[in-house]
Amino acid sequence: MTYSGLIQRYRQFLDLPAHTKIVSLLEGNTPLIPMPRLSKELGCELFIKFEGLNPTGSFKDRGMTAAISEALGRGAQTVICASTGNTAASAAAYAARAGLRSIVLIPEGKVAVGKLAGAIAYGAEVIQIQGSFDDALALVVEITQKTPIALVNSINPFRIEGQKTAAFEICDELESAPDWLCLPVGNAGNITAYWMGFKQYQKGLPRLLGVQAAGSAPLVLGHPVEKPETVATAIRIGKPARGEQALEAAHESNGRIIAVSDAEILKAQQILASEGVWVEPASAAGIAGLLAESAVGKFEAKGQKVVAVCTGHGMKDPAIIADSFAAPKSIPATYAALTHLIEQK
Ligand code: F0G
Repeated sequence: MTYSGLIQRYRQFLDLPAHTKIVSLLEGNTPLIPMPRLSKELGCELFIKFEGLNPTGSFKDRGMTAAISEALGRGAQTVICASTGNTAASAAAYAARAGLRSIVLIPEGKVAVGKLAGAIAYGAEVIQIQGSFDDALALVVEITQKTPIALVNSINPFRIEGQKTAAFEICDELESAPDWLCLPVGNAGNITAYWMGFKQYQKGLPRLLGVQAAGSAPLVLGHPVEKPETVATAIRIGKPARGEQALEAAHESNGRIIAVSDAEILKAQQILASEGVWVEPASAAGIAGLLAESAVGKFEAKGQKVVAVCTGHGMKDPAIIADSFAAPKSIPATYAALTHLIEQK
């Protein structure tokens, strides 16, 4: 059967109103990539759910197809979101597809270039806020309460409906839920959606390992973080909108939410790339958490099937790589110079 997007595929499991008018870019259906080398190192059977292969390069497209389809069907003309970048690009793309106006608020200077470029390319009106993501979110909540502009952040329940489909796909592919699911946690919509999805699908429940960046870890610290900081700008969030639900989900699953350092995140990004999967820094947090737990003997790997969700593509944040490496060597365009250089190695 031709794939026609995740609403079509999982419609019976999604709580979407009758007025929903499907807007799809054939999101979802992302691969579950086996990781033989990392599996061996960890002593478990590890798969990466590579969400960077969605149409705009992140998992946000799952929730966005649902949120924009609902907004369009309801007659909304303008959508708005606050974003660390990926939601902005996704909202812009789906709004463009639907013929809607999109406005995105981003924290000034803290959005990776691939995300900002995406939002602009898809035609969003991009506004930088002299503040954090949390400040931007407060503003979009206020404006959508006072005007007919539709909110497409993950506070919007339809975003969560769409994002549940990632759990369905994993269960369909593995024929049951994995033992563990590791994923980054920022505004906490995704971990909430996965847990709802697994519970609803009734093919077993994983234990959840939610991972925050140490400089932006309100759910680990137990209080909001006024000035969140991390190299993983996607999850640079101090007051997660669905923080309570995330903690509940982790607890209910007999799992936990932990924090890892920026160094651990970048190391995990490198390890993943060395096995052929390049993800943006935030997306490596799940693996960083798994490696950290394993290093201190808190992860019983033997016989465990583990899925790590890699939420966004490495191409979203090229600067993080480009800035940390010397420029490639430059040589005259001659065969002699080429062989000389290669033989030197
Ligand atoms: N990974 C990436 C690549 C993200 O962009 C985000 C969130 C997360 C993980 C965390 O997901 O918020 O559901 O816990 N990005 C949002 C944005 C905040 O604006 O793009 P979450």
